[in-house]
Amino acid sequence: MTLLKMKFNLKRILILFISLFVIGSVAIETSVHTVSGDSLHLKDYTNEITNLNEPYKFIKTDYFKPITHLTFTNKPVTRYYQLTLKKVKMSPDGFERTVWSVNGQHPGPLIQANKGDRLVINVTNHFDDPASIHWHGMFQHGTNWYDGVPGQTQCPIPNDVSLVYNFSTTDQHGTYWYHSHFFAQYVDGLRGSLVVHDPDDPYLNQYDFEYLVVLSDWHHNTTGVLLPLQDAPGYSGFRPIPDSPLISGLGRYNCTAAPPGSKCNSDQPLPVYNVKKNKKYRFRIINSAADGVFVFSIDQHKLKVIESEGIYLKPTIIKKLPVAVGQRYSVIVDANQPVGNYFIRGTLDKRCTPNNNATINFNSAIDWDGLGILHYEGAKNSPNSKEFDDDFTPCRDLDKKHLKPIKPITKYDGHVTDFVNITITFGADKNQRLEALINNSSFVPQLNDPTINKITRDIAAKDLPKDQNSVILNHNGGIAEIYVKNDNNADHPFHMHGHVFAIMFVGEKGDVPDESKYNKKNPVVRDTVTIPGNGFLVIRFITDNPGVWAFHCHIEWHVEIGMVMGIIELQDTLKKETIPEDVVALCLEHDLQKRTTRKMLNAIVINEIRSDD
Ligand code: C2O
Ligand code: CU
Repeated sequence: MTLLKMKFNLKRILILFISLFVIGSVAIETSVHTVSGDSLHLKDYTNEITNLNEPYKFIKTDYFKPITHLTFTNKPVTRYYQLTLKKVKMSPDGFERTVWSVNGQHPGPLIQANKGDRLVINVTNHFDDPASIHWHGMFQHGTNWYDGVPGQTQCPIPNDVSLVYNFSTTDQHGTYWYHSHFFAQYVDGLRGSLVVHDPDDPYLNQYDFEYLVVLSDWHHNTTGVLLPLQDAPGYSGFRPIPDSPLISGLGRYNCTAAPPGSKCNSDQPLPVYNVKKNKKYRFRIINSAADGVFVFSIDQHKLKVIESEGIYLKPTIIKKLPVAVGQRYSVIVDANQPVGNYFIRGTLDKRCTPNNNATINFNSAIDWDGLGILHYEGAKNSPNSKEFDDDFTPCRDLDKKHLKPIKPITKYDGHVTDFVNITITFGADKNQRLEALINNSSFVPQLNDPTINKITRDIAAKDLPKDQNSVILNHNGGIAEIYVKNDNNADHPFHMHGHVFAIMFVGEKGDVPDESKYNKKNPVVRDTVTIPGNGFLVIRFITDNPGVWAFHCHIEWHVEIGMVMGIIELQDTLKKETIPEDVVALCLEHDLQKRTTRKMLNAIVINEIRSDD
């Protein structure tokens, strides 16, 4: 097919796609990816969808009610969800602003599946901005194009267009979340929770109810205001200081500090989680912030840690749980204290948030101590419980002694097929604008021509533009080892898409890498890990998932200045794949809208696909 003909067809598809949407039809056909030839791995994960006529279920979630479980089925099923993106006015901490909501709420509703189920999620974008959704922690075996990363795995979803994401949960279970990966949009509200339940969960019988706790920082200015400030030439501050911590979308702001004329109410209700005496509760805790370590605790109630990022842990008891951005935990809480009200604390740890008087919002009126209430049925008194003392190292991940998998995971102790060396630093571009550098290169997404499109057009990974920060891994079933040297003071919570990884070593400033100290026999396995300031990190993972996978700091302010890599995994398999037509079609209608930042402007590389528009 000639390029011109292809363009024409894609346009027709797009027009069809949009008209279907406009007439309100939800029966948009997704082309199911079919496996070609010798790609053994993909075949295992791709099962046909038999019924596309199911209505997508529009859901809402009350975060202060226990989760209503899905019944376990004998065979995996397909679950259809509708997520509608719309800006609404909300006052999460009492201060009214525009929120980029999902189904009208923030955080967005809970997406649930049972292990092995397929999730088919129709995302309808009415934001007036482009958008995308990344399913944080989902492996996307065989469906790299549904990973939701503009510039790497798709073009953004234009306003008033829908995209059906369609992926299996095979091989995973646990606590996940979803969020926009389009600029800093998730910080404005597009984030929610995703749980994959497991009938074989070893802890299933150890609790009576389940709660979700979605922690986030919150800004009164939109990221459309904040990003250009960080991007100004000569900016010498740190990451923007938030205005409130939120516990499942609720916080409290002292409105006397709000600018005159703003709508603000200082008496926001505190988030309340109801419990019954002598029942046990599983709390699934997600840090969905732009930045910042949250410390979660409940006065007088210790936490039994049982899961981190889908990995079942040997249970240990802690008082306080530090959670870095992107990380998730499950803890079991025993409501065995005298009937009463106890404070739940979702504290943004100020010690981990650098500030100086050039920093955006440096004089924020934030109350760092986010509060909620654990309310026992029948309790009348107002809470006056006392906070536990710290039992963790500030600004570090929960200690590895609490993160031992229930059974040691030994598959990472083998012959390493690929060694990758990365150094992260900060610098300035020629206009004195702040940049994050990975091996001296700052990542810039090519929003209208994502890497996966290039690979399937048969561009070799080694020929990708330098600013795509590519790591090329071609050993099918091999073990890759990544060594990341952090050449700056800041701690960076790094997240890898499409994988979990085994942590061989976390180095503090002054430590030296020494293979004899690597934790090969019983490593911590997860998908997000903090790299200490001036320290280093050594991880291993299995290269068995063809795709373009982002590997990046999850501090959104660092992502926006380029602290991102693209892992190009098994390109020979990937390039034989056919990206579904509706995903490709997004690139034609990719309308870049109002929220322009430097990165956005840089990213508008007018390429051949658009040239005849
Ligand atoms: Cu939580 Cu690249 O994402
Ligand atoms: Cu960072």
